[in-house]
Amino acid sequence: MNIGFMGLGKLGLPCALAAELRGHNVAGCDISETVRANIRARKMPYREEGAREALQKSKLRLVELPALVAESDFVFVPIQTPHEPGYEGVSRLPEERANFDYSHLKAGMRSLAEEIARQGAEKIVVIISTVLPGTVEREIRPLLNAHVKLCYNPFFIAMGTTMDDFLRPEFVLLGADDKGAAKTLRGFYATIHGAPVFETTIASAELAKVAYNTFISMKIVFANAMMEICHKTGANIDAVSDAMALAKKRVVSPMYLRGGMGDGGGCHPRDNIALSWLARELGLSFDFFESLMLAREKQTEWLAELMAGYDLPKVILGKSFKPETNITVGSPSRLLHSLLLERGEKCEMWDPHTDGETPPAFAPSCFLIGTKHAAFAEMQFPPGSVVIDPWRYIPDQPGATIIRLGE
Ligand SMILES: NC(=O)c1ccc[n+]([C@@H]2O[C@H](COP(=O)([O-])OP(=O)(O)OC[C@H]3O[C@@H](n4cnc5c(N)ncnc54)[C@H](O)[C@@H]3O)[C@@H](O)[C@H]2O)c1
Repeated sequence: MNIGFMGLGKLGLPCALAAELRGHNVAGCDISETVRANIRARKMPYREEGAREALQKSKLRLVELPALVAESDFVFVPIQTPHEPGYEGVSRLPEERANFDYSHLKAGMRSLAEEIARQGAEKIVVIISTVLPGTVEREIRPLLNAHVKLCYNPFFIAMGTTMDDFLRPEFVLLGADDKGAAKTLRGFYATIHGAPVFETTIASAELAKVAYNTFISMKIVFANAMMEICHKTGANIDAVSDAMALAKKRVVSPMYLRGGMGDGGGCHPRDNIALSWLARELGLSFDFFESLMLAREKQTEWLAELMAGYDLPKVILGKSFKPETNITVGSPSRLLHSLLLERGEKCEMWDPHTDGETPPAFAPSCFLIGTKHAAFAEMQFPPGSVVIDPWRYIPDQPGATIIRLGE
């Protein structure tokens, strides 16, 4: 099929490359000259499994909007819906709440709809961007015309493994009010994988997407509450997680049920804060999403307190939000860092994926393993150091005290 991507950012580009791997003819446009220059130079600016190699071999065509519309059977729209920096989850939860910023998505959808009308044919447009429920009806629909057949098809991908998650999802969530458009998309996904396609209304798909993200945050907050209890009572968090993992019928999958740092990344914290905004807007009886973010913050404060208990220089190892990536957006390590600074503690951070592979010469320090990078398990800590390990994978070593949380 001929597939168009309007927006070739962190989500759009790896998905475009993945669609190409399944034999589709893919074209894309992006208003950012930096993004276009990187693609022309076949350069991936961030770590994304398999994407660098795929981009080298790619025949992806960079085009302008009129050609994108003319040449595509349908157009995916993964345009950014950002939150202000204060809502990234690397600082305390602000008192004020806000919805996502839909201005980029609206501007893109307006010009796409105008171009489709100008060309006079009908076109399927598939929004992928994350939005809160009701947004498409309220903000996007008024910008469209009868030529646009609209679907909302958010992806459940994690940064770092975007291509694989696109090629091998558990299911596809498809919000559509046009049966023909839904059928075309089902046909497309049948060429990508055999995962079930769950079809519903656009509003339900909007909510299902953020519900999925916030459920994961909830599991992590829960696991970390258990880890803290274990740490303070002598129970073992991994035994607790292993026991619960057997309760697949009632407790669901064991993923995200291990103790560690808080939830992070470019999606979950900001989605929770946007849902907290929605909770206020709708006057919900209880703002569950605020509680999740406050629990994440308090649990990180506990880690700051543990570190502050040692009269040693403080070092957080790992800046990225998950192992073996250089993406630091929404990272719980960065939240811990800001909470330590707030307490008046000086604290260094070091990450092999953002700062080079050789660690600086550290003095004996109180280290906290903020990201479970494999390299930290090989590190030699200066004698006299204390290493706080929320992941429980750092081996014992002479001269250093290893504190495995919740063990
Ligand atoms: N990155 C992820 O892992 C991920 C996962 C799931 C959902 N999402 C959602 O997908 C959306 C995009 O996220 P992202 O991380 O890829 O953002 P991004 O900022 O990396 O990419 C968006 C791209 O769209 C381009 N763009 C903006 N307006 C345009 C226009 N009018 N025409 C053409 N291109 C335009 C931008 O220049 C940018 O390159 C967001 O709503 C995000 O919440 C992202």
